[in-house]
Amino acid sequence: MTRAIYPGSFDPLTFGHVDIIERSARLFDNVVVAILTNPQKAPLFTVEERIEIMNEILKPRFRNVEVDVFHGLLVDYAKQKRAQVIVRGIRAVTDYEYEFQMALMNRRLTPDIETVFMMPAENYSYLSSRLVKEIAELGGSVTGLVPETVERRLKQRFKKET
Ligand code: PNS
Repeated sequence: MTRAIYPGSFDPLTFGHVDIIERSARLFDNVVVAILTNPQKAPLFTVEERIEIMNEILKPRFRNVEVDVFHGLLVDYAKQKRAQVIVRGIRAVTDYEYEFQMALMNRRLTPDIETVFMMPAENYSYLSSRLVKEIAELGGSVTGLVPETVERRLKQRFKKET
């Protein structure tokens, strides 16, 4: 059985993430979507909200995908979960340098865990959680970029603050 970890901040989940999860779920027996809890970062959505969003979107769609939370080193978490693979999505060349660095550092720390890069569908290749948050905050439309529940929550979030 091959288990893959798909780690990230997922603040919030976008259709780009869902695309990578779908591809991973086809390729691996089991996929753990792992949300990083980072005390240094102030997220827009709490970990609990992000788990709720993920469960709402992913549970009905994928039988071999689970959602979890981790902190500390990714490779330690992957070992603890007995995963053989780390999945990362690559959108453009600009992602490559950082991802390459992380993958090689993770390999140095734990040589038997392999990082696999996947490309999302072309129409999500310019999509990022950061831009989604910025657009939503400034009143732009994020329809078609994030699941409806995320769109609704973003609207609520930014309505409260104005
Ligand atoms: O969605 P993101 O923010 O690009 O995800 C980055 C993530 C969570 C994959 C990365 O920050 C990470 O793995 N953090 C855990 C700490 C760690 O293992 N650091 C060493 C990386 S070489």
